[in-house]
Amino acid sequence: LHVLVLMGGWANEREVSLMSGKGVADALESVGHRVTRLDMDRDVAAKIAEAKPDVVFNALHGAPGEDGTVQGMLDLMGVPYTHAGLATSVIAIDKELTKHALVPHGIPMPGGRVVKSEELYEGDPIARPYVLKPVNEGSSVGVAIVEDTSNCGNPIARDAKGPWQDFDTLLAEPFIRGRELTTAVIDTPEGPRALGVTELIVADGFYDYENKYTEGRTQHIFPADLPPEVERLCLEYAMQAHKRLGCKGVSRSDYRYDDERGEDGLFLLETNTQPGMTPLSLVPEQARGCGIEYPELCEMIVEDALR
Ligand code: DAL
Ligand code: MG
Repeated sequence: LHVLVLMGGWANEREVSLMSGKGVADALESVGHRVTRLDMDRDVAAKIAEAKPDVVFNALHGAPGEDGTVQGMLDLMGVPYTHAGLATSVIAIDKELTKHALVPHGIPMPGGRVVKSEELYEGDPIARPYVLKPVNEGSSVGVAIVEDTSNCGNPIARDAKGPWQDFDTLLAEPFIRGRELTTAVIDTPEGPRALGVTELIVADGFYDYENKYTEGRTQHIFPADLPPEVERLCLEYAMQAHKRLGCKGVSRSDYRYDDERGEDGLFLLETNTQPGMTPLSLVPEQARGCGIEYPELCEMIVEDALR
């Protein structure tokens, strides 16, 4: 097959996407596919039209690329592509819209509210401790945890520096103490399959951008050591989210788990429609743990796009 691997672009996750794209392109080449590598710019449509690939492997993360824009363009061009389609991408990139799609189906997600960053200077939008995050970023870009101890319950000071300043709209969610878990789902010819649960243990702070992409900063435990019922729920919610949102090829659902609250302490934070494929990424690691090597995983995603 001639596969065009689309990567880079101008999202905040550009560097992560370049790493995913390189990994995928190398792997697909290693198993005999003809690969065109494309770092997305504004001429992307013309470049794809000229390359005439059989399929586009969408290795973009964040917006644009994971948000429906590129999917809509490829739909119009009639070029098959990997991962979620337009509507799924629009919903899943937005953590608030995702709640509207999944909570009515019984998948527990944290409450909270969407705020304009200006409002933060008027007072806490919800009770501390809470997490502030852009509604539509990935890799923990722009995420801050507002602890109950900091600033003694006063509004965030106008001159306080924080990642929230770069974003117009933010989601404030109650901070869930405890553990960080994740479950990948891949599509197979027999239907979607949940791969298992990984626990992420960080040495310092939370699972933020640095801890995600700096080797040695985070321990990945696969399979996670969990009560059987919690493990079962992680797999079930990830499968449900994959199906309800309409994910394709692969997805990865991320959780917080407050083990002091037992199974009631499990909350889905989001479902990623284009999970990372870098050397430190979790989907390739879970797949390997299930006997699916990285090139085979890439091929499965390509095959699903053509099914
Ligand atoms: N947003 C990053 C790439 C992930 O979900 O892995
Ligand atoms: Mg994400």
